[in-house]
Amino acid sequence: MAAVVSLQLMLRTAAALLAGAAVLSACFTDRQNEGQRLYASHCASCHGEQGEGLRRLMPPLAGSDYLGKHRAELPCLIRRGQKGPIVVSGVTYDQVMPAHEDLTDSQITNLLNYVHNAWGNQGPKHTIREVSQLLEACQGSDGR
Ligand code: HEC
Repeated sequence: MAAVVSLQLMLRTAAALLAGAAVLSACFTDRQNEGQRLYASHCASCHGEQGEGLRRLMPPLAGSDYLGKHRAELPCLIRRGQKGPIVVSGVTYDQVMPAHEDLTDSQITNLLNYVHNAWGNQGPKHTIREVSQLLEACQGSDGR
């Protein structure tokens, strides 16, 4: 009797481990392209599929010198939006970028890391921890 019970326990544990592994691997494969997918759904409509921007209305992200110069402010720029004149690669823009309150800290991290490394950009990556800390500056960290 005891043997049957422990066999059942072992099987259950094995099943739980397998299920856990399946969930984890799905999570990781999903994560790999999260930045790119978020960019397509949240940013491309304004900044362009290739980060090229739109005339004097939407600043470019591809080749933008703003990314390097204002690196520490980028998490809050995405969280709270941006308005007022800014200079991007020598061109002044004075439009309004909306806030993104619905993104988690980790989504903002993946998004920024995608932007830093897409279209020939070569910015250093952010860690989630760094982004959460930078988001404190605008009370914008959701701790996730
Ligand atoms: C509704 C249009 C719109 C959307 C959507 C939008 N932006 Fe912007 N973004 C702007 C505008 C306009 C500015 C410049 C604001 C100003 O003139 O002060 C800007 C500025 C920026 C800048 C700083 C300037 C530069 O070009 O380097 C970054 C970085 C940026 N946006 C990233 C993003 C990311 C990432 C997303 C997606 C989460 C996003 N934006 C979504 C319109 C938008």
